[in-house]
Amino acid sequence: MTSLSNEISRRSALTATTAVVGTGLLAACGGGDDATAAKKVDISVDASNVPVGGGFIDRTNSVVVTQPTKGSYKAFSSVCPHQGCQVGQVTEEAIVCTCHGSRFDPKTGDVTAGPAEKGLPAKQVAVQGAKLHVTG
Ligand code: FES
Repeated sequence: MTSLSNEISRRSALTATTAVVGTGLLAACGGGDDATAAKKVDISVDASNVPVGGGFIDRTNSVVVTQPTKGSYKAFSSVCPHQGCQVGQVTEEAIVCTCHGSRFDPKTGDVTAGPAEKGLPAKQVAVQGAKLHVTG
């Protein structure tokens, strides 16, 4: 091979790699209506995973379960309505999306700070002994 064809091959490989990485980032960050649409779930969560004044994020099923007061459980989609990131943290005051800082009420899922303009869609929670049955 000549050095010119080597350079062309190297550039082609870099372009292909960039395209794959770019596609991966788009899939991870979402950004469209599909990315922020709530998934239907029918799952069981150990109640012991959900602390009082905190929460549990199930990234596989895109669900966040909170326990704002002892024995009172709430569940929401964990997909941020801003651009589709999974929420990253639950505190006593807020469910926080760490992508751009949106905050949601852990009792209602309502947005309390943007850039998100909508709250987290609610799920139903039924306590079944030591398990929480989350649907919706
Ligand atoms: Fe959550 Fe932007 S995706 S704040």
